[in-house]
Amino acid sequence: MKSSSVKELLLTAPALKEVQVDGWVKTFRSNRFIALNDGSTLNNIQCVVDFEQFNENLLKQIATGAALRITGTLVESQGRGQNVEIRVKEIFVHGGADPEVYPIQPKKHSLEFLREKAHLRVRTNTFSAVMRVRSALAFAIHKYFNENGFYYFHAPIITGSDAEGAGEMFRVTTLDDKNPPLDENGQVDFKEDFFGKETNLTVSGQLEAEAYAMGLGKVYTFGPTFRAENSNTSRHLAEFWMIEPEMAFYDLDANMDLAEDFIKSVIRYILENCKEDLQFLEKRLLDEEKVKPQAERSEMALIEKLGFVADNGFKRVTYTEAINILRNSKPNKKKKFQYPIDEWGADLQSEHERYLVEKHFKCPVILFDYPADIKAFYMRLNEDGKTVRAMDILFPGIGEIVGGSQREERLDVLREKIAALDIDEKELWWYLDLRKFGTAVHSGFGLGFERLVLFATGMGNIRDVIPFPRTPQNAEF
Ligand code: 4AD
Ligand code: MG
Repeated sequence: MKSSSVKELLLTAPALKEVQVDGWVKTFRSNRFIALNDGSTLNNIQCVVDFEQFNENLLKQIATGAALRITGTLVESQGRGQNVEIRVKEIFVHGGADPEVYPIQPKKHSLEFLREKAHLRVRTNTFSAVMRVRSALAFAIHKYFNENGFYYFHAPIITGSDAEGAGEMFRVTTLDDKNPPLDENGQVDFKEDFFGKETNLTVSGQLEAEAYAMGLGKVYTFGPTFRAENSNTSRHLAEFWMIEPEMAFYDLDANMDLAEDFIKSVIRYILENCKEDLQFLEKRLLDEEKVKPQAERSEMALIEKLGFVADNGFKRVTYTEAINILRNSKPNKKKKFQYPIDEWGADLQSEHERYLVEKHFKCPVILFDYPADIKAFYMRLNEDGKTVRAMDILFPGIGEIVGGSQREERLDVLREKIAALDIDEKELWWYLDLRKFGTAVHSGFGLGFERLVLFATGMGNIRDVIPFPRTPQNAEF
């Protein structure tokens, strides 16, 4: 007989049918009720055992975490909370789980504890719900771009360029670290390295995506990116996934329209397709917040918040307007910000972004036209000569979720910028070529996938929305 998934069985009418199901024991009560889960859904199927029919040794192996194959009859459930249950005829133990040592017992575990058990935590309700929502979001992202005329483009993972110019890269090398070849100046000679030059893991696929947009029109990447920034925060990972659409002939306004429509669309998708998981995550969050002071609790429950974002316009504000708001804000005047805002030109910290979104506008905000000095070299200079066509999307509880811009398409302006930043033009020869041959207005943005998953699931730490997080001092598993 072919096994059914728990999800299928729970949707099946109780027709006294013979069924088979494989899964892991969540709980085993009174030597009679096995709650079995296989990851296909948050819900368990109840399997009712007549213990007199089974030998004691077998029953002993049915502990939380054990993997079983159960065969029996699907009948109308006598208990509450489910329509159907299985009257068990046969039990095969794929593998047991000794309750003395199996860490995931049916009780509340802290998220910190579960991070240490990242290989097993997906067997909890919280992590299975988060990971199903994560998977649904990834699918919705591909679906959105596919339906809107974009091609999925694969940017290289190993690269010779630092797209963001922040110098926070992980080196890729095959040189002997104890005895590297040296050049005549005593420096490591990367000509001898695998690629004949210094290479790193990519921080962004944007530069390469630009090349492809200038031929395929509309492309997007969705892949891992790597940043060696030593930020031990609940919003930063050293390895995270980024979605980067890049569009020829789009200006900044079209870029903002796309970003907003895209985010709303994927949120709508999970509202429609992940109802049970979202309800569970909403309840989890409400329980967690009960112990917090009123002021720190969310104003909206999770599903309401997602609906709000999907249905309302994002507020578009220039950097200059935002600075004025921040300068005159209560926390700034009362010196409550860790980084006080005095001057135009200051870089915004997450405390400022969150003030704008959570306290001032109370909705997602798109900030645009930032000072050139605090943004990357490739952004298009405005006529004022001091701001660039950058845009960041700021979300409640998260801060920056998207960073993007209209790109500098004018060869001479880009060259000046590169020279001013002391970047070697030779390293970007191919990027400059794009401005020599058929250049055109174009734009794009990067959405941090884990930040989106954080928002969508109401989780508080980015380490809990990626299967195996990579952070400073942590690359276990
Ligand atoms: O703002 P960023 O650095 O923009 C870029 O990399 C552009 N090249 C994107 C583009 O225009 N194609 O990063 C984009 C987004 C951020 O808004 C944030 O959501 C996420 O990537 N991000 C991180 N997420 C997790 N951990 C980190 N260390 C992150 N750094 C950036
Ligand atoms: Mg950014």
